[in-house]
Amino acid sequence: MKILVVCYSNTGTTMLVGEYIAQAMDAEFDVVEEVKSRPPLLVDGKKLEAGIGAFAKAVLAAVFGTSSAIARTLRDPGLYDLVVVGTPVWAGSLTPAVRSYLRRHRKTLPRVAFFCTAGDPSRMRVFGQMRKLVGKEPLATIAVKSTDVRTEACPRLIEAFVSRLKATG
Ligand SMILES: Cc1cc2nc3c(=O)[nH]c(=O)nc-3n(C[C@H](O)[C@H](O)[C@H](O)COP(=O)(O)O)c2cc1C
Repeated sequence: MKILVVCYSNTGTTMLVGEYIAQAMDAEFDVVEEVKSRPPLLVDGKKLEAGIGAFAKAVLAAVFGTSSAIARTLRDPGLYDLVVVGTPVWAGSLTPAVRSYLRRHRKTLPRVAFFCTAGDPSRMRVFGQMRKLVGKEPLATIAVKSTDVRTEACPRLIEAFVSRLKATG
């Protein structure tokens, strides 16, 4: 089975989870990049002084469900059997970049699974939004707390997610 893991990441947390998943599933990895890239919006969970305006802009875009202009990705998701899509949570929502990616590829996406990282993953509506955009149920989902990502908890969470995915055949 040919698997693609693809995500957007502003400060590297979601990217790290994506890389773990890709490694655990022997999958190819790709990133979604915005044409106009944003500065790092949070460092260690705190707002950056220099980034308050950019932070507010990101929150508003997420709240209002705005898409953003994204670059063409390296890999065509339509050529895979399973695409695992990841996003950070912004204002409880998916990021504009991933919204654009899902809109761009919704017609050719094969089976999907979703992951996200968030300061508090218990309070978000990301997976419902992603499901609605692609028009299909994900085989599995996982939300990882950002402070767990660089700890030993993360590989265990990923393993459980990958096992659930493998069990779906
Ligand atoms: C603009 C913005 C809004 C955010 N909103 C939320 C939120 O509503 N809930 C939450 O749990 N975390 C929120 N976060 C925290 C991020 O989801 C978290 O830090 C994530 O792991 C960042 O991923 P990244 O390093 O891949 O960009 C927000 C972060 C940013 C920059």
